[in-house]
Amino acid sequence: MKVVVFGTGYVGLVSGVCLAEVGHDVTCIDINKSIVKSLNRGISTISESKISTLLLKNIKNNRFKVTGNQQEAMQNAQVSIIAVGTPFDGHKIDLSYIEKVAKSIGSELKNHSSYHVVCVKSTIVPGTTDNIIKPIIEKSSGKKCDEAWGLAMNPEFLAEGTAINDFMHPDRIVIGAEFPRTFNIMKELYSPFKNSLVLSTNIATAEMIKYASNTFLASIISFSNEIASLCDVNNKIDILDVMSGVHADKRLSPILKTGRVKPGLLSFLHPGVGFGGSCFPKDVKSIISYASEMKLKVPLLKAVINVNDNQVQVLIRKIVDNLQIIKGQKITILGLAFKPGTDDIRESPSIKIIKALLSLGAKIQAHDPKAIKKMKGIFSNEKIYFSEVLDDVLEKTSAIVLLTAWPEYKDLHFKSIAQKVPVIDGRRFLEKKNFKHYVGIGYNSSKSSNFKIQRKK
Ligand code: UDX
Repeated sequence: MKVVVFGTGYVGLVSGVCLAEVGHDVTCIDINKSIVKSLNRGISTISESKISTLLLKNIKNNRFKVTGNQQEAMQNAQVSIIAVGTPFDGHKIDLSYIEKVAKSIGSELKNHSSYHVVCVKSTIVPGTTDNIIKPIIEKSSGKKCDEAWGLAMNPEFLAEGTAINDFMHPDRIVIGAEFPRTFNIMKELYSPFKNSLVLSTNIATAEMIKYASNTFLASIISFSNEIASLCDVNNKIDILDVMSGVHADKRLSPILKTGRVKPGLLSFLHPGVGFGGSCFPKDVKSIISYASEMKLKVPLLKAVINVNDNQVQVLIRKIVDNLQIIKGQKITILGLAFKPGTDDIRESPSIKIIKALLSLGAKIQAHDPKAIKKMKGIFSNEKIYFSEVLDDVLEKTSAIVLLTAWPEYKDLHFKSIAQKVPVIDGRRFLEKKNFKHYVGIGYNSSKSSNFKIQRKK
């Protein structure tokens, strides 16, 4: 099939390259000339595992290209995928990029003779496709939906760092549409993904599935963090022991004949310094703002954000409690990215924590294997020592604060400094028994818990 993808961010580029990989003829559209040039040379403009290999392979076999020429790209194309950003503007999602693309797709459709499906992949609140995107395309094309073109909503479930794998091996393909012709074309688009679960539904439900999925995961992170705060006030309880007991519920980790299954979901039922990234904070806030527009109260979702915002304070309090005086102290920050495996620092708790520590007068030295360049952009006016060499930031420090669970921190206890200063673990990633002075979210004592759980390897 001939497919056009609007947008070459994480979602657009990953979707475009993967659809080319399974045999479609894909053209991505981007208005930025340097992005077009770079991608056509096979140089990825996003940092994502495996993307460069697939990009080069599909450019070579003529199944993938990028252009700024929309008219040429859309000629004879059967599907246009909208994958542009929908940033949160502080009150609600900003639809300006998506509206612009919808308008220009509509203008092209004026000249189209064959049926064309417009597929929305960007994350948008329920009703947006039907009430905003559809009228824009109808107006600019002069054609009614389903007369000459169809409209589908097809949310993405791509996590940064595993996005290629998530696309190539989908856990679900959600197709929201109204007309049989549209469903048929969308099913053809995804036909190479044999044996995948395809959920066909209406457009608004497809929009809602995306929000329900992300707010659910964000909720269980905040739930774990609230339980962690309850554990923190009793020095006999360690949240990790508590969560081991929760995880062992057979409805969360079923016991099969072959042994116990440990679903990936359990890693979200884990305490930490809070969720970040380009999706969870934005999606929870967007759906809260949608609820308010609908004059609906959503106290649970509001609490998810409140608990998350407070986690940064929980960690700062632990640093202050353990150092007493922050002014003039050198503090080591391990990890800047919002999660390991990415250079993305959007909504990373590390930003707020570094800002707070600087305002208290601390001197910061920070390590991250990937995210330093981006973080320097945020703190360009501050004196922070950044290094990609771990040992560089472990010298002459008063405390070590772990904020991203990068695998290279697992052996921190072998560094002599880590036995001399407080180690404050914002991800409960380190083994507390390996340190002389360990402090963690949901664990508030040098005394160890009496509750010993035999963790099976
Ligand atoms: C998320 C969704 O997972 C993805 O399906 C959706 O399409 C986009 O949003 P992403 O933002 O890349 O993807 O990151 P994800 O790996 O889900 O992490 C989000 C937050 O959850 C991070 O703050 C991370 O620290 C936390 N997290 C992630 C956990 O607590 N446990 C995990 O196992 C993974």
